[in-house]
Amino acid sequence: MAILVTGGTGYIGSHTVVELLNSGYKVIIVDNYTNSKPEVLNRIYQITNKKPKFYEVDVCDLDKMEQIFAKEKITDIIHFAGLKSVAESVEKPQLYFDNNIGGSKVLLELMDKYDVKNIVFSSSATVYGIPEHVPLKESDKVGGCTNPYGQTKLEIEYHLMNYSKSHPDANIAILRYFNPIGAHVSGLIGEDPQGIPNNLMPYITQVAIGKRPHLNVYGNDYKTVDGTGVRDYIHVVDLAYGHLCALKKLEEKPGLVIYNLGTGKGTSVLELVHAFEKANHIKIPYIICNRRPGDVDENYAEVSKAYKEMNFKTKLNIEDACRDSWRWQSQNPNGYDE
Ligand code: WQD
Repeated sequence: MAILVTGGTGYIGSHTVVELLNSGYKVIIVDNYTNSKPEVLNRIYQITNKKPKFYEVDVCDLDKMEQIFAKEKITDIIHFAGLKSVAESVEKPQLYFDNNIGGSKVLLELMDKYDVKNIVFSSSATVYGIPEHVPLKESDKVGGCTNPYGQTKLEIEYHLMNYSKSHPDANIAILRYFNPIGAHVSGLIGEDPQGIPNNLMPYITQVAIGKRPHLNVYGNDYKTVDGTGVRDYIHVVDLAYGHLCALKKLEEKPGLVIYNLGTGKGTSVLELVHAFEKANHIKIPYIICNRRPGDVDENYAEVSKAYKEMNFKTKLNIEDACRDSWRWQSQNPNGYDE
């Protein structure tokens, strides 16, 4: 009974590995360190006192991946591995399609060959494209993704749906994440973006630690509570726990299921900034800039399906995430780099 976690040293992957290990699961990590560091394994050990088996392998490498499937008794897969920068996907669409789709196709081929029945896939709310209304339900229209990153996530969902039709005994959970923020309460693992952060929370923490002079608020003329973009910020530890709920759900042999993982509440950019300032007694200077291309006014989840069908609901709130993100950043000013 081993859970193969691809991308297990990444931000969400590492938090999920911690929850899996603390819940007694046997974990095997596959990662090629494209967007993570070996130090993460040491931190996972410090938190859990456990050393999951690790393979430094690119999930797109069929031969190397097959050696793992032949050697290990894999019962379930949680598939995080993939490129995830919206901005980079616009510059390098082919790289995103080759890598993200390619990796998923390798896993499906090996699942079929080695009779692995269960997979949890890390999808994203970005598959909904520009929402016609909020909150977003799993049955809402998908497509019209505003960037190649989102298109790859949707394309992989279609591959999984087709695989489910041709493999009726496969159990597949597609989890659509909204906006993950926060860090493990120990401050030992957290979000470690390479270069200038695209996402809001890591940018805020880099302003707080003095790495950036101020936050650029991308637009304050949206049709929202204060004009700034509204998103559904889910604590990464809650998100990690959602994967354990999904593994349990697959034990019921449900076939293919799709769940939004969010809080069900929208928070604006300025509300998040003020919550961070209040939680950490730190001033975050900001300037209002032009809108960022591709951004939508608001985007948050309708969360009743995950609660009804896999008893998942978030326990941590925005203040918890602001405190935990700051603890991670202040204890690790340069992320996982020394
Ligand atoms: C949030 C809000 C920005 C940075 C993306 C991906 C999504 C998922 C999460 C992977 C928006 C504003 C941001 C900044 C700002 N990633 N903002 N200044 O764009 O909602 O979602 O990341 O799965 O798939 O699309 O997240 O954190 O970039 O932006 O004002 O420096 O913060 O305009 O309103 P986003 P984000």
